[in-house]
Amino acid sequence: MNFASDNIVGASRPVLDALIAANGGAEPAYGADGPTRAVERRLAEIFERDCAVFLVATGTGANALALSALVPPYGCAVCHREAHVIDDECGAPEFFTGGAKLAGLPGVGAKLAPRTLAEWLASLSPSVKQMPPRALSISQATECGLVYTPGEVAALAEIAHGAGLKVHMDGARFANALVSLGVSPAEITWKAGVDVLTFGATKNGCLAAEALIVFDPALAEAMPWLRKRSGHTLSKGRLLGAQLQGYLANDHWLDNARHANAMAARLAEGVTALPGARLAFERQANELLPVLPRETAERLRAAGAMFHPWSEASLPEGERVAPHETLVRLVTSFATTEGEIDAFLAAARG
Ligand SMILES: Cc1ncc(COP(=O)(O)O)c(C=O)c1O
Repeated sequence: MNFASDNIVGASRPVLDALIAANGGAEPAYGADGPTRAVERRLAEIFERDCAVFLVATGTGANALALSALVPPYGCAVCHREAHVIDDECGAPEFFTGGAKLAGLPGVGAKLAPRTLAEWLASLSPSVKQMPPRALSISQATECGLVYTPGEVAALAEIAHGAGLKVHMDGARFANALVSLGVSPAEITWKAGVDVLTFGATKNGCLAAEALIVFDPALAEAMPWLRKRSGHTLSKGRLLGAQLQGYLANDHWLDNARHANAMAARLAEGVTALPGARLAFERQANELLPVLPRETAERLRAAGAMFHPWSEASLPEGERVAPHETLVRLVTSFATTEGEIDAFLAAARG
């Protein structure tokens, strides 16, 4: 009954099998290996265009590297104020950019609205006293489990590009968002104006592997060196490549995400039927944020269920968590079983 996150499980079988298959024999080091080259070609097919691909071991590394390619040390990146990049990466983007600043804007469900972005940009002064904005970073899915549609991404990207900003998408849960939306990878990224994507894989079946995908080659010029200095250029690069090979083969990544989302849908249905419980946001991918009576949450914890309390900073207008209630986050993964969900719901009912 562990719904704390989707990184609490290990790797999925096809990923492990691919790692074992790639383990034997000699391969060039530092990313020039066969599995990595194959993944680069596969991602170009999946995204329907040439792109520069850089494999790294963590989402924080991918996000910080992405922003370091887009924002100079004197610049600023704008994101939601609850975004992982601003809240949960220990200042890695600021460190990797050499001192750039992150600005956090409000928005329901950790989603940025075009108007909020436009008003913020219009409020900035061109004075040398201010750090000029150079990038917009959005999370797909958001930290509250919501997804941006292609139209919503395009509206934000149009405003950002119009003001000279590049667009980064933190896709730690890209696959979950993609299958929820039912669109193509191209439609939700470069066709909607995304310049750089963190293509998350760790949360959806890999051991530790993410792909930083740069759609505009000009932005990727410095990336080989930036990645090396960040310590993310693995000498045995094939071990990153092999994970992603297994992840992408036979649409395994999409199957994993569909399973995680289906489990979240089942959990959402059960949770909303609990006395006094409701979802703070519509369930869209593999995270749900229910408001539970405190006694239900306590009963669950006493029964051994694991989940995190969640921030109330981005609740919809009119949603209030009463003193006898608590807002929590429940996350499902490719490995979640129906049995775990049923046990959780039974424990909640007492
Ligand atoms: C929205 C989001 N972005 C990025 C990450 C990646 O972080 P990590 O460095 O832990 O792989 C996470 C992980 O929790 C996340 O939730």
